Amino acid sequence: MNLTHRMRRLRRTPAIRRMVQSVYIHPEDMIYPIFVTELSDKPQEVSSMPGVWQFPLDDVLTEVDRCVNAGIEAIMLFGLPAEKDEKASQAYAQDGIVQKAIRKIRAAYPELIITTDVCLCEYTSHGHCGMIAADGDVQNDPTLTLLAKTAVSHAEAGADILSPSDMMDGRVAFIRQALDDAGYQNVSIMAHCAKFASAFFGPFRDAADSAPQFGDRKTYQMDPASGARQALEEIALDVDEGTDFIIVKPGLAYLDLVSQAAENFLQPIVTYNVSGEYAMVKAAAEKGWIDEKKVVMEMMYAFKRAGADIIITYHAIDVANWLKEEQ
Ligand code: PBG
Ligand code: ZN
Repeated sequence: MNLTHRMRRLRRTPAIRRMVQSVYIHPEDMIYPIFVTELSDKPQEVSSMPGVWQFPLDDVLTEVDRCVNAGIEAIMLFGLPAEKDEKASQAYAQDGIVQKAIRKIRAAYPELIITTDVCLCEYTSHGHCGMIAADGDVQNDPTLTLLAKTAVSHAEAGADILSPSDMMDGRVAFIRQALDDAGYQNVSIMAHCAKFASAFFGPFRDAADSAPQFGDRKTYQMDPASGARQALEEIALDVDEGTDFIIVKPGLAYLDLVSQAAENFLQPIVTYNVSGEYAMVKAAAEKGWIDEKKVVMEMMYAFKRAGADIIITYHAIDVANWLKEEQ
């Protein structure tokens, strides 16, 4: 038959497929999350996230080494403090676990991009991302002061990029102002702009010991059933308040928003391939039901094709090493 179009001509050989390939993954586009803990003096694997470990300060550099050797140039730090209280004191303590980790990593790797999660839930006794009022509600405005203190303490320790993940209103402007006032004009904000009250965060709460002790996060994180227009408003507000990057989170279930964010805004777009997405892949791969490497690479291409410039992912080191093997 003489067909005008034969799409298979573009797929005939590996070389032709590579020639027409248009989505690429680079190690330098990925951010690898690292959990630092004061609760143990040995690395502990997170049971719901095989391959992800909580590291005491003494061991954190071994994990950073693994990252750097793979070609990853950015990490995101999360802390598990020994002490929690109502006002998340350890979140902004000068000698808090994350502050100490930043200093240690910075001393060993002057060039590494150190990003940090800026939130209170890992540090509050009740596990919420903000201060609790008498009626149990999470108070927006009093929380801003503590988030800003946390952000400034991370900047002081040497972080490059701060990533507020709390979803309080007005926190980007408040944090920007506090950073500027403290002389950290060159420290960036990578805000979780459109972050949903997602069941995909389940395994993370084991990893970070940050589950809310009562209620849920639905009054501050977005409703998964809300529409794209609300997500665009959330992003627009954070852009207006001065975020340098836009995070959409979770990743896979929200790729429509990644794509709309990329169409509507000029800031670099970041997607967070969250713990539940990681756990599902790991569990199915362990059972032999899927091919982990192929599934993960396909997910990475999906993030890129949707418009993400940067991917925060627990798979980052594996992906970087797989890319090297192919060269
Ligand atoms: C803290 C925070 C969460 C995640 C990142 N920062 C959890 C939450 O909001 O409950 C989720 C990351 C993941 O699931 O991988 N606010
Ligand atoms: Zn939080």
